[in-house]
Amino acid sequence: MKIGFTETVLRDANQSLIATRLPYEKFADILPEMDKAGYYSVECWGGAVFDCCLRYLNEDPWERLRKLRKGMPNTKLQMLLRGQNLLGYKHYPDEIVRMFVAKSVENGIDIIRIFDALNDLRNIEVATDEAIKRGAQVSGTISYTQSPVHTIKAFAKLAKDMESMGVATICIKDMAGVMSPQEAYELISEIKKSVKLPVVLHTHCTTGMAYMTYLKAAEAGVDVIDTATSCFSGGSSQPATETLNFAFEGLGYETGLDAAVLKRVNDFFKPVRDEFLKSGQLDPKMLATDTDALNYKVPGGMLSNLVAQLKAQNAMDKFDLVLEETPKVRADLGYPPLVTPMSQMVGVQATANVLAGERYKNISKEVKAYCKGEYGKAPGKINPEVLKLVLGDEKPIQGRYADTLEPVFEKTKKELEGIAKNDEDVLSYILFPQVTEKYFAARKAKEEKVVRYTIAPAE
Ligand code: CO
Repeated sequence: MKIGFTETVLRDANQSLIATRLPYEKFADILPEMDKAGYYSVECWGGAVFDCCLRYLNEDPWERLRKLRKGMPNTKLQMLLRGQNLLGYKHYPDEIVRMFVAKSVENGIDIIRIFDALNDLRNIEVATDEAIKRGAQVSGTISYTQSPVHTIKAFAKLAKDMESMGVATICIKDMAGVMSPQEAYELISEIKKSVKLPVVLHTHCTTGMAYMTYLKAAEAGVDVIDTATSCFSGGSSQPATETLNFAFEGLGYETGLDAAVLKRVNDFFKPVRDEFLKSGQLDPKMLATDTDALNYKVPGGMLSNLVAQLKAQNAMDKFDLVLEETPKVRADLGYPPLVTPMSQMVGVQATANVLAGERYKNISKEVKAYCKGEYGKAPGKINPEVLKLVLGDEKPIQGRYADTLEPVFEKTKKELEGIAKNDEDVLSYILFPQVTEKYFAARKAKEEKVVRYTIAPAE
């Protein structure tokens, strides 16, 4: 029996615990060691890493990727990609999706985990096709959620459809950490019956079930699990790598991991974690178990957003009403999984419905775009009365939203003449225009400073 481990400390653990604020220099020295650990892969790029490099860390995310490639030449580097949204927050034209995927592979990515928040396969097919053409391994990813339309049969069919798209593995992404051990057992057993591909499970410790969920997943034959080095594990992050390695070896599994290397990796990250705890960037609460997601059926991150929204409006007394309204709005919208950007959309609408004292009196432009079909197809049927309230006489778009988008690359490249140094720069700008503009300015200032010092070192 074999089980592979994907180490998430550089991406999801970093994102879930310290809002992706880990700069490259803080982990550069451990890369050669991580390269020897025997991980199935290291998730190190994509998700919020790209945005945060530019926005908060003054780092070129492409440069980070090239350094990761150099630092871990023998390890499979993995990224998370939001299908047609890439790493941004809206849909991009196919031209940009293809270029972005091609550049990701060219700069060092081996495995691309591709998902769509609505599980609309039209939103992952272009990225998948390009990744395969470029020689990357695609992990076709299911956004896991619970609702009357998200049945085990429906998920198994999704896996089957992804298999026919040519993906190499199927990943089940439980972003909220709400999958129970028994659900994992049943879902993975069913998927294993319907496809011949290896199955990967991604979950979070948030509600405290993850270790048990992985154990039952293994009993059902899961091939790979996501874990984080122990000092960056638990709470809203993944379960601990060393712990599960120890447990699964004891159960007779071959993990491929070297426990001595895992210890050195963890010893390296301990003072890094302590530094973030000291600065307050790592809130100890994030490391604890939070069962609210089980009671309210709302992911932990979304819950804290709702609280923040209500506090800002001085309306915390409406908290229970908003919590009752949230699943109703989700049902009205055809049960979208509560993942970015749907979680924000549903939360804001539920709050608006309660505060206005009238449902759908105020409708956000995101909900309108969603109802029009700009995010893809709703998993279930949108409540026809709500659809009428939201769209009025406007008709939902037919077909795929990205087909209505014009190419933008050449035009943008021209606009950035003398500023962008390469095509990667242009892509960064297309995804995050304001943030990247600021980054370009900071980069230029830094380079000019270097030149000045080189010319006049005594200054
Ligand atoms: Co995650």
